[in-house]
Amino acid sequence: MEKIAPEIYSNINNDVYKTEGDIWWNPNNILHLLKTSINPWRVGYSTSIIKKLGIDPKGKTALEVGSGGGILTEEICKMGFNTTGIDPAEQSIETASNHAKASGLNIKYDKGIGEHLPYADNSFDNVFCCDVLEHVQDLPKVISEISRVLKPGGVFFYDTLNRTFISKLVAIKIWQEWKRWAFMPPNLHVWEMFIKPEEIKELLQKNGFEWKEHHGSSPNVSIPKMLGYLRKRAKGEWTFADLGKNFWLVESKDMNILYAGYAIKK
Ligand SMILES: C[S@@+](CC[C@H](N)C(=O)[O-])C[C@H]1O[C@@H](n2cnc3c(N)ncnc32)[C@H](O)[C@@H]1O
Repeated sequence: MEKIAPEIYSNINNDVYKTEGDIWWNPNNILHLLKTSINPWRVGYSTSIIKKLGIDPKGKTALEVGSGGGILTEEICKMGFNTTGIDPAEQSIETASNHAKASGLNIKYDKGIGEHLPYADNSFDNVFCCDVLEHVQDLPKVISEISRVLKPGGVFFYDTLNRTFISKLVAIKIWQEWKRWAFMPPNLHVWEMFIKPEEIKELLQKNGFEWKEHHGSSPNVSIPKMLGYLRKRAKGEWTFADLGKNFWLVESKDMNILYAGYAIKK
């Protein structure tokens, strides 16, 4: 895999995360869906792997790369890890820090990009990078940096969007472009930046990881029902909070859109 070409990378709107104020924790904001609709799946998955591997989080460190407003970071901290989050968007870091303080959670937040992690080699016992890899310009550099800062035997958890015909139809056309259902701003995601499971697997293996598995996701409701929910949201009958109360992801074999996985540093 190569770095994303400038003419493609220039299409993604990563400036959304630099919006002033709290865009993460208000249930009526789109990014809060990461908590209501994505966390149940990805936190459930990583917790089950941590259990399966016999990891006791007590006294262990975890880094979240691309931590945004702290929606996943706080769950990592609640698992019991000494937790650090890093993100390029200062406004999101401020929101994350304020929210952690208000919740009595001791999380260290830093500003930086996944391509240049400001940490020494072998600093962390675990690294999480969820819903971020499809936003970065230099994926090979991010994976090599994650490998560098992980201790040998450390676990890397990730989830990202697959580059398939179905993900173009769903994640680009339905979620972003077709007004009848769209609930995301245009260019929040750029299909060409999505990552096929075999591409990330190969990249991990090239960067000193033992790749372990991938696992898929599906909505908790049927596709016609899901489209009905999105239609209600688009017509203004439902808020994002209503959407979050009715839709969330569940574990499935379907890797066409969002999939998760883990790898262990050798
Ligand atoms: C969809 S949000 C995910 C936030 C968080 N991981 C979560 O799931 O709750 C994507 C995040 O990736 C961050 N991001 C974008 N480019 C990045 C890069 N090169 N390195 C690290 N983070 C990046 C954005 O600032 C944003 O906070």
